[in-house]
Amino acid sequence: MLGLGDRSWPLVATCTRGLEEVLADELRALGASAVAVGRGMVSFSGGRDTVIDANLKLRSAMRVLVSLVRGQVGDRGGLYDLAASVPWEEALSEHQTFSVEVAGRARAFRDASFAARVVKDAVVDRLRRVHGARPDVDRDAPDIRLHLHLSDGASSLAVDSSGEPLSQRGYRPRGGPAPLNESLAAGILLLAGYDGTQPLIDPMCGTGTFAVEAALIATRTPPSLLREFAFERWPGHDRERHQETIRRLAHVRRDAPAPIVARDRDERAVQATRRNLKAAGMDRWAEVGPGDVRELELPWGEGGMVVMNPPYGKRVGDVKKLGGLYRKIGDALKQRAPGATAWILVGDRELAKQIGLKPARRIPLFNGPIECRLLCFELYEGARD
Ligand SMILES: C[S@@+](CC[C@H](N)C(=O)[O-])C[C@H]1O[C@@H](n2cnc3c(N)ncnc32)[C@H](O)[C@@H]1O
Repeated sequence: MLGLGDRSWPLVATCTRGLEEVLADELRALGASAVAVGRGMVSFSGGRDTVIDANLKLRSAMRVLVSLVRGQVGDRGGLYDLAASVPWEEALSEHQTFSVEVAGRARAFRDASFAARVVKDAVVDRLRRVHGARPDVDRDAPDIRLHLHLSDGASSLAVDSSGEPLSQRGYRPRGGPAPLNESLAAGILLLAGYDGTQPLIDPMCGTGTFAVEAALIATRTPPSLLREFAFERWPGHDRERHQETIRRLAHVRRDAPAPIVARDRDERAVQATRRNLKAAGMDRWAEVGPGDVRELELPWGEGGMVVMNPPYGKRVGDVKKLGGLYRKIGDALKQRAPGATAWILVGDRELAKQIGLKPARRIPLFNGPIECRLLCFELYEGARD
């Protein structure tokens, strides 16, 4: 089963809410079929190669799941039987560990951890019957991650082909600081229509997430060539072929056609951005240096794209303190970015107002649990009210 074989499977790619359409476009560009947008996810279908391609190439997705079984479950017995109907012995040996994550909601299972336990029992009982031994549950680093999606209609059980979320591209040390998740940063760039042909500056680059993702897009480099995936541990995985695919993809590149510039007023952020660009193999394509957003300069003169994620301020007092910075950002955009389009991710309404410019677009997006707005400003030559 998990060897995937040659058949087509129902698949699901998950994403931050607000990026569903961008992800659907990415999937269509990959040639996936039956692409349908849901809430925080896009369903599609495809075989083994589609699963591998989706993991290596999707920029805005968080995980790629393979749906194993789907059915209506009104109570514990129904969920147990649904989970027990999957031939787990083809997927899991008694030496492997697994976990069950639960998403969605159903009236019969108000307690998600109860639903997870029912699935776990069904998997363990079936394997004990077939193998005479049981696999262990490991919540932190399991070999196989199962996803139960509960719904009052049909609930489904899927296996995660990605492992660590796809936002972990493999260039940043695990657990290192990543104020902006990579899949969200890439999704914002794609939402903004960035394709690498327009010059781009992030004047508050932090650890350089926008710069790295922009360079990956501009050079047409798949974002996840440097990492491992859960499907590499599945039975029937062809290691040789996978390595060959990675070698081939690493060659399908082009030079970045336009400048990518990153600035931050904090020298440590400048260093972090340089380090991350180098680790991602993208340092050739971005120019990084110190700079204050209040003295923003477009090195190419006019036009192009400005993208940034200024500090939000987590405490009430911070919002007051940061108001001045947001006003200055607005002034700098008005006076120093003629003809550019600016995209600013803001996590606080009051701060957003301080920018003092009327957004052409206001797109809701979630940065983890924080409901944000991606604001788009079209800037004109000279000052405008
Ligand atoms: C929320 S972080 C950006 C995170 C970044 N997008 C990333 O992925 O790492 C905000 C950044 O703005 C920088 N910053 C604050 N005030 C600034 C100013 N006046 N000019 C330039 N950068 C500034 C901070 O040093 C910090 O690195």
